Amino acid sequence: MKFSLAAVLATAALTVAQRTYNVTSALAPGQLEKYKCLTTEKWLKNFGIPECLHECTRNANKKDGCAYNDFACHNINYQVYSDIIEPCAFPPQLGGNGTCTLAELGAVRPKVADAGNFFNATVYAAYAGRHCKVRLSVSKTLAIIADEVTVVTTK
Ligand SMILES: *[C@@H]1O[C@H](CO)[C@@H](O)[C@H](O)[C@H]1NC(C)=O
Ligand SMILES: *[C@@H]1O[C@H](CO)[C@@H](O)[C@H](O)[C@H]1NC(C)=O
Ligand SMILES: *[C@@H]1O[C@H](CO)[C@@H](O)[C@H](O)[C@H]1NC(C)=O
Repeated sequence: MKFSLAAVLATAALTVAQRTYNVTSALAPGQLEKYKCLTTEKWLKNFGIPECLHECTRNANKKDGCAYNDFACHNINYQVYSDIIEPCAFPPQLGGNGTCTLAELGAVRPKVADAGNFFNATVYAAYAGRHCKVRLSVSKTLAIIADEVTVVTTK
């Protein structure tokens, strides 16, 4: 188990060098257990995501081109994903059509940041070798990562 996690992390470190994340926080005790086999419904129910975000989240998870329950992909696909979810989630004072209050959005922000940091740092570790019944878009995720690397090396 430790060995395969190390392999996943080594791969991530080699291929996503330009991405920033806090490994201390990503690999803090309990993080891998917390996010293992994460699905859309687990995210909405077990992480205290407010009702006002449920349909926007399901909709974005369907439409960003990643497998519905693949949070590594949704996270790496950040640009496409945020363009879909933000107009739906943000209330009118932030230019969207959402029904969340600013207080509700503020309470969710650290949860999204923690999950984002975790998946940026570990990519597929939460799904690796765990017999998760989750369909993954591994090749799409790796293609995005590869594109990011290409952009960086041509600069
Ligand atoms: C990284 O995360 C750890 C644990 O959450 C935190 O104590 C530390 O301040 C963070 N480091 C940076 C540079 O944000
Ligand atoms: C909000 O909804 C209206 C009516 O459906 C639509 O025309 C508009 O583009 C939406 N705005 C955003 C930011 O999604
Ligand atoms: C994850 O990496 C992307 C760049 O690939 C970045 O835009 C995003 O802010 C990062 N997420 C976190 C929570 O650090």
